[in-house]
Amino acid sequence: MKKHDSSREFHEALIPALSAMRAVGEDFAQLMMEYQFGINEVMTKVEILRQEFMQRNRYNPIEHVSSRIKTPESIAKKLVRKGIPLDSEQIAQNIFDIAGIRITCSFIADTYRVLDALASQSDITVLQVKDYIKNPKPNGYKSLHAIVQVPVFLSTGPKDVVVELQIRTIAMDFWAALEHKIFYKYEGEVPNHLVDELTETARVAAELDERMERLHTSVHGEGNGPRI
Ligand code: GTP
Ligand code: MG
Repeated sequence: MKKHDSSREFHEALIPALSAMRAVGEDFAQLMMEYQFGINEVMTKVEILRQEFMQRNRYNPIEHVSSRIKTPESIAKKLVRKGIPLDSEQIAQNIFDIAGIRITCSFIADTYRVLDALASQSDITVLQVKDYIKNPKPNGYKSLHAIVQVPVFLSTGPKDVVVELQIRTIAMDFWAALEHKIFYKYEGEVPNHLVDELTETARVAAELDERMERLHTSVHGEGNGPRI
């Protein structure tokens, strides 16, 4: 009889807990869907710029575009690290890199042009720009970062969605991809000789970017060069 009672109590307590979990899960799924819509909106903008520019100038300033939604595990880790409660509103207000788009450009000047072209659109609000091209990180990391907000039109009305943009050259992307792999392999404790080697390769990559851009400008000219 006792066993039966405690099992009943357990189930009675379990039902509201499970339905609360389900509500959190549904909220979270809705939030992730909205971030995906935000990515879709910005990806369309980037694709329009790319195609229109190509048609007009027979030159492609955007080499490659990719997007990703942060995994639930990675969101959870960041929530714990920053002491943010597991709540859709709190997540949306405090984490700005759930929706991410990476744009790889041919030349340094193109990275700024692409950001300007997006930032000047009337429905895009730029919340933050971090220029790691002008001010590289100590390890040599270079990239132009922007946090932007774009409205998505839901059946319930417009909803502003935050999207992180990372815009960089092919050389910067090549470097960042390798650095990322090395960083993860050593779980952040990268041996000194590899840190030195990475810093040196970042310098070589930056030199390549400058020389490629000079070469491009000398052929096409500054005025007739890439414009968006
Ligand atoms: P996070 O909390 O990690 O998002 O960093 P943050 O809010 O300080 O923003 P920051 O602009 O510095 O970095 C955002 C993103 O840029 C990271 O999540 C990485 O994708 C990329 N990034 C920044 N620094 C490095 C770096 O040193 N190496 C590589 N490979 N990527 C970097
Ligand atoms: Mg991040």
